[in-house]
Amino acid sequence: MMSRNLSNMSTQIPKTMRAVALSKYCEPSEYELATLPVPGISEPDEVLIKVKAASVNPIDVKLASKIGKLLGNATFPYKMGFDVAGVVVGVGSSVSNFKAGDEVYSLVSQIHRGTFAEYALSTADAISIKPQGLSFGEAASIPLVTLTALRSFRIADEKLTGGLKGKTVFIPAGLSGTGSSAIQLAKNVFGAGKVVTTLSAGKIEQSAEYLGHAVPDEIIDYTKENVVRAIGKGTVDFMFDTVSSTIRALPVMKRDSVIVSISTVPNGAEFNKTQGGNSRMWFVYLLNVLDWLLKAWTRRKGVDYQFLSREAGECGEELNLIRQWIEEGKLKPIVGRRAKLSNVEEVRSGCQQVFDAQGGVGKFVIEID
Ligand SMILES: NC(=O)c1ccc[n+]([C@@H]2O[C@H](COP(=O)([O-])OP(=O)(O)OC[C@H]3O[C@@H](n4cnc5c(N)ncnc54)[C@H](OP(=O)(O)O)[C@@H]3O)[C@@H](O)[C@H]2O)c1
Repeated sequence: MMSRNLSNMSTQIPKTMRAVALSKYCEPSEYELATLPVPGISEPDEVLIKVKAASVNPIDVKLASKIGKLLGNATFPYKMGFDVAGVVVGVGSSVSNFKAGDEVYSLVSQIHRGTFAEYALSTADAISIKPQGLSFGEAASIPLVTLTALRSFRIADEKLTGGLKGKTVFIPAGLSGTGSSAIQLAKNVFGAGKVVTTLSAGKIEQSAEYLGHAVPDEIIDYTKENVVRAIGKGTVDFMFDTVSSTIRALPVMKRDSVIVSISTVPNGAEFNKTQGGNSRMWFVYLLNVLDWLLKAWTRRKGVDYQFLSREAGECGEELNLIRQWIEEGKLKPIVGRRAKLSNVEEVRSGCQQVFDAQGGVGKFVIEID
């Protein structure tokens, strides 16, 4: 094992830590706090972070549930969490750009999964300095959702003739984690001409509070209105599909338009890569068939569709850019709910809301107390 460069903080690192770690696939009501060894640095590019806050994404609770059992071969105790903000307490021998004491945020890779804990590992290429002015909780709310939206927008920007500037963009679920990040990117970074979103009735008034600096041009109450009719057929250049609406909302797309979906069906090979090559082969095959069908169906309508599976690897540069946009006021974290790690009931309840995919605003953040 590679020796840790723990600088002057080594004496403060205990041998064990509290972590949300599961002994079986289960739903949030069965989540428990476990005592686990503090992870050790074993690769030269690894960085050990004392976690101050982590945020919860749908993928965390889905993979930990019986859905995860279908998809892969996890080992137990199953550690949860990919998004993290905290303080560097140790670095591997090749890390020169971070040192003990740096306040950072990161999206950790599948092999380092486990940010709902007092300590977590990441790699130097997946870390950036925490944006100034943000609390750790706010910083932890950013990585996965914003990196996913950013990658999707870059794809659309490349594929659309003339890029995204001035174009009509449809982003369903405007106060979801991914939707709220995407609206801010569309309005304040990519210069979209018109941004259309959907919300349930109770959230429409809240949108001004959270998105006052990136006001969508049109908000449709998806629980009462016919979304396709409200948007209009053949009017949208780019749909960022956060709620599996690719087929349902296909009529709103122009010819030669682009859909990037993060919520329908991943390509099997890409999904397997995000799972560290651990997925069951029959499942990979099934995903590939469904992905092919979706591509063929949308192509018949003149729409360029692709699914994006966001991976952690080498996201540090993008996190640097996102930090800059946050410090310029273009992007703001949207945290709807918080729980202390020690309050297991609150952690379960917040995770249940994420699992149910209903009722939440922005991100649910776990603060390590
Ligand atoms: N492929 C990738 O790399 C990647 C990355 C990140 C996320 N994802 C996936 O993307 C999806 C969204 O993630 P997220 O973090 O944004 O989830 P989230 O923050 O938990 O969003 C859930 C919200 O979506 C709203 N919603 C549900 N159905 C809707 C519909 N038909 N129309 C409009 N709004 C609807 C709900 O609002 P109401 O309460 O108003 O109903 C709910 O609050 C998830 O499936 C997640 O797994 C994929």
